[in-house]
Amino acid sequence: MNTADGVRRVTACRVCGADDWLPVVDLGSVPLANNYLDPAASYADERTFPLGAQSCRSCRLMSLTHVVDPELLYRDYAYVTSESVTITRHMRWVAELLGTRFGLGPGSFVVELGSNTGQQLVEFQRAGMRGLGVDPARNLAGRAAANGVQTLVEFFDADLGRRIARERGHADLVLGRHVFGHVDDLAGLAEGVRELLSPRGVFAIEVPYLLDLLDQTAFDTIYHEHLSYLCVSTMATLFARFGLRVVDVERTAVHGGSVVVVVARAEGPWPTRPSVDRLVELERAAGVFDDGTYGHFSRRVALIRAELPQLLRDLRAGGATIAGYGAPAKGNTVLTTCGIGRDEVSFCIDTTDLKQGKVLPGSHIPVEVPAHARANPPDYFLLLAWNYTDEIVRREREFLAGGGRFIRPIPHPAVVAAGDSAMAG
Ligand code: TYD
Ligand code: ZN
Repeated sequence: MNTADGVRRVTACRVCGADDWLPVVDLGSVPLANNYLDPAASYADERTFPLGAQSCRSCRLMSLTHVVDPELLYRDYAYVTSESVTITRHMRWVAELLGTRFGLGPGSFVVELGSNTGQQLVEFQRAGMRGLGVDPARNLAGRAAANGVQTLVEFFDADLGRRIARERGHADLVLGRHVFGHVDDLAGLAEGVRELLSPRGVFAIEVPYLLDLLDQTAFDTIYHEHLSYLCVSTMATLFARFGLRVVDVERTAVHGGSVVVVVARAEGPWPTRPSVDRLVELERAAGVFDDGTYGHFSRRVALIRAELPQLLRDLRAGGATIAGYGAPAKGNTVLTTCGIGRDEVSFCIDTTDLKQGKVLPGSHIPVEVPAHARANPPDYFLLLAWNYTDEIVRREREFLAGGGRFIRPIPHPAVVAAGDSAMAG
C-alpha cells in the first residue's frame, strides 16, 4: 500500500476560517471507503489516505484532518441510493414536508445537488414539479435518466449556480441530501445556491447530525467523503456569512440520525421557526461547545476499536462463522480501523449490484449476493448496516428463529438475538 498525493491537510476551518483545532480521533491511514475492488491475487498497490477528525474551537465544525481530491472520490462512484423501504419512505416524507411548508406545487423548479440515481427527484416530479439533478458521478447519470430524471454531470459551484439560473430559471427549492458534508469549498457552494434561488426559494440540506454521531459513538460515519460533521449552530454561523438564514430544522432517524436544515435569503419572507433556537439550545446543553465532549467520544471510539475485534476473534475461536450484513461505506471504516479481515468475517452480503462480486477496500472481504447467505448461513451477522436494523431484523426473522444472531458494532459491540430489546433499536 502507498500514500501518495491527491490529499492535503486541513488548516483553515472551512466554515469560520480559524485555525484552532482540537484533535478528536486519529484512525490511521486507510483506503477510500467506497473503493470496492475487483478480486485480485495481490492488493499491493491499493492506496491509503490519513483518516482523522478534529473540532474547530471557534465554530465547532468537526472536520476531517485531511481532504482527498474529489476527482478520486466521485467520478466513478459505487454508492447508489438505497431502495430500502426506510429510505423510500423517508424521501416521500422529505418531499411532502418541504412541499407543504414552503409552498411548492405543480410547476415549481427543484434542483438537487448530489442527485445520484434520481430517486429523490422522482418524488417531486410525481407532484408535477420540474426537477434537475447535479451529480459528478459519470457512471450514475444513465440510471437517473432511466428513472426519468435529467442530470448535469458536474460538481456544483457558483458558476454552475449562475448558469442554471440563466438557462433554466431560478429554483424554488435547492436540495442537498447527504452531500453538504462532502463539499470542501462551502463558500462556493453557498454563493452558487444564493445565485440559483428565487427570492422565495429555499435551500434544504440533510446531513448526519453531529449530536447523534456523538451520542451513538457512530465513528464509522467518519470516512474520506465526509469532510464536515455538522450541527445547526455551525451551519447558522456559515450561512450568516452569505446573507442566508436558517429558517427551519427537523431531526430524522435516517443514516443513524440526521437533521434537515432549511435555509433562505436572510431578507426573504420566511419566518424563522422556533424549532431552530430550540435545537441550537439543545446543542449547547449537550456539550457541543465543550472540549470534554470530544475527549469522551474519543475514549469510547478507542473502546469499540479494542472490543469489537476481540469479540469477533473470541467467537471465531469458539468455532462460529461470521458474515457482514451490508457492505456500506461506514462498514469499511469499522473493518479497516479495527483491523478486522477475512479471518474474522468470511463474506458480506449486499443488495447493490455495483458492489457484488467485488472485495471490500482494505479488508478484502468478498461481497456476495444476499442468496449466498441463505445457502451458507453464518452463525452471526455483523450488522455493518446498523442504521437499517429495524428493516433487516424484520426481513431476517427466519435467521433469528433458527438461532442466528446479530452483532451490533455501534453504539457499543454487542451480540443480540431474537427477542432482545436491543434488537428494536
Ligand atoms: P448506507 O446506509 O446508505 O451506507 P453508507 O452511507 O455507509 O454507504 O448503505 C447501506 C448498504 O447496505 C448499501 O450498500 C445497501 C446495503 N443493504 C443491504 O445489503 N441489505 C439491506 O437490507 C439494507 C437495508 C441495506
Ligand atoms: Zn470553524
